[in-house]
Amino acid sequence: MRIGYVSRLGASSPSFVPLEAAIRARGHALEVMSPITTALVYPPPRDPPPPHVTLTRIGGTSPLTAQDLVRHLEARGGRCVNTASSLMRSSDKVTMLAELARCGVPTPPSVVLPAVDDPGRARLEHAVQVLGPPPWVAKLPRGNKGQGVVVVESLPTLHGIADWFLAMGQPLLLQAFVRTRPPSDCRVVVVGGRVLAAMRRYGEHGELRANVHLGGRVERLVPPPAMAALAVRAAQAFGLEVAGVDLMEGPDALVVIEVNSSPGVIGIQRAQDQGPGPGRVQVAEEIIGYLESVAPGGAGA
Ligand SMILES: Nc1ncnc2c1ncn2[C@@H]1O[C@H](COP(=O)(O)OP(=O)(O)O)[C@@H](O)[C@H]1O
Ligand SMILES: [Mg+2]
Repeated sequence: MRIGYVSRLGASSPSFVPLEAAIRARGHALEVMSPITTALVYPPPRDPPPPHVTLTRIGGTSPLTAQDLVRHLEARGGRCVNTASSLMRSSDKVTMLAELARCGVPTPPSVVLPAVDDPGRARLEHAVQVLGPPPWVAKLPRGNKGQGVVVVESLPTLHGIADWFLAMGQPLLLQAFVRTRPPSDCRVVVVGGRVLAAMRRYGEHGELRANVHLGGRVERLVPPPAMAALAVRAAQAFGLEVAGVDLMEGPDALVVIEVNSSPGVIGIQRAQDQGPGPGRVQVAEEIIGYLESVAPGGAGA
């Protein structure tokens, strides 16, 4: 079958390599589409038909127009994984908090300060009452790979950060700091409503952010049932068929930090390749297998 691949970075994304290899190994043709260079014609032409199924690798830093290409493919009758509507609902961390709250998924206490308003001393002090004592975490709503996440140790520093976000015209997402020793979080990859693979990530060299892109060390994880169930519920809150759910084990409870609509494949595979063989998963192969199962006329049709 013809498999589409939508990505801003296209073939230069590290995850492209294992995914392309899996697509070719399973005998499929691959069509890579860039949301930056593809012109969208309406009404959509009948010819050529869209790929049978398209993997839409669109994350927080993709331009919002990337979703236009996914909507265009769907208007042409194409089957997209993830769908345009699930991508829209998970496109930034503020929208994400609302969807998770709506579905009763626990997150750390958070306060969002709009971009256009000077929060002022009194409102920042009110915000930190909600969050509890420092440290706190300040986030760019559309940050990714750990970029745009900073730990704030004191109220004076928070004032400086708030001014900085205001000057950039960015809403400021403030969050209670979830303390883990050593600093770590869990990434659970959910595909088609079930847990495919999971890892624990550790921040290295004093880094509190555990992202693989920042050099975080990874360890294979078999998620306990409560974590697995929460990850599945978090992915389903957005209707995401492929999702990377980031969770932290706080002192009192498990919380969801964020849900990624285009989870990286390299770090999670590295974690899978550690330790004993049984239970090991080939992540890219499984994702492409899922695409086959949902493609109209495919294995699952
Ligand atoms: N509330 C928090 N408390 C402690 N650490 C956090 C918190 N939020 C994020 N982190 C750390 O920062 C990393 C990046 O944050 P995340 O919200 O996942 O943003 P990104 O989209 O950049 O990955 C997380 O993987 C985790 O290690
Ligand atoms: Mg993350």
